[in-house]
Amino acid sequence: MEISKMTSCSDEDFKQIEALVGVLSSSCKADRAVLEEVIAQENTHLFVARDKEKGIVGMATICCFTIPTGRHATVEDVVVLPQCQGLGLGRRLVEAALSYLRKNGKGYKVGLTSKPSRVAANALYKSMGFKQKETNVYNMEIYDCGDILSTLHLK
Ligand SMILES: CC(C)(COP(=O)(O)OP(=O)(O)OC[C@H]1O[C@@H](n2cnc3c(N)ncnc32)[C@H](O)[C@@H]1OP(=O)(O)O)[C@@H](O)C(=O)NCCC(=O)NCCS
Repeated sequence: MEISKMTSCSDEDFKQIEALVGVLSSSCKADRAVLEEVIAQENTHLFVARDKEKGIVGMATICCFTIPTGRHATVEDVVVLPQCQGLGLGRRLVEAALSYLRKNGKGYKVGLTSKPSRVAANALYKSMGFKQKETNVYNMEIYDCGDILSTLHLK
């Protein structure tokens, strides 16, 4: 099983990422254009676990950004196909993302969030040294105005 940073996306790769997104969330759908954007972005790095026969069976993304309080990174969308879980892949994927940052040599504050119901994920992150922080998480969706305007036939 090889862990590598994704630099291109074949149709087969996309189907496998689509399946992984389905494991992560029933309300999210993978989008080919978005995935191409992820791969092209300079500050976002998508790591995949690739099996010779099964193809992509797991992924983890790290997003880096610099703000007045310093260089930060967030670990996002960590997921392994159910039939490949418990084999150490989740740990290897997050490790790959962190060692990519370490090699960069700049120093980052690395954060992530995970619902309490995600028992395996919470255990994984704690076992890797992430410390739980008390904070409130807020979300808002900004919709694609282009889509709304065309739906209303205003564009
Ligand atoms: C979280 C997830 C990525 C872990 O991947 P994995 O390959 O199964 O995990 P690993 O085999 O690398 O296990 C690493 C550690 O995770 C924890 N862990 C894994 N499975 C666990 C389980 N079923 N129960 C409790 N802890 C578990 C353990 O601490 C384990 O370390 P150990 O083997 O030394 O005990 C995987 O369970 C998954 O895809 N879950 C669904 C999606 C999800 O919740 N993603 C996280 C979003 S924040």
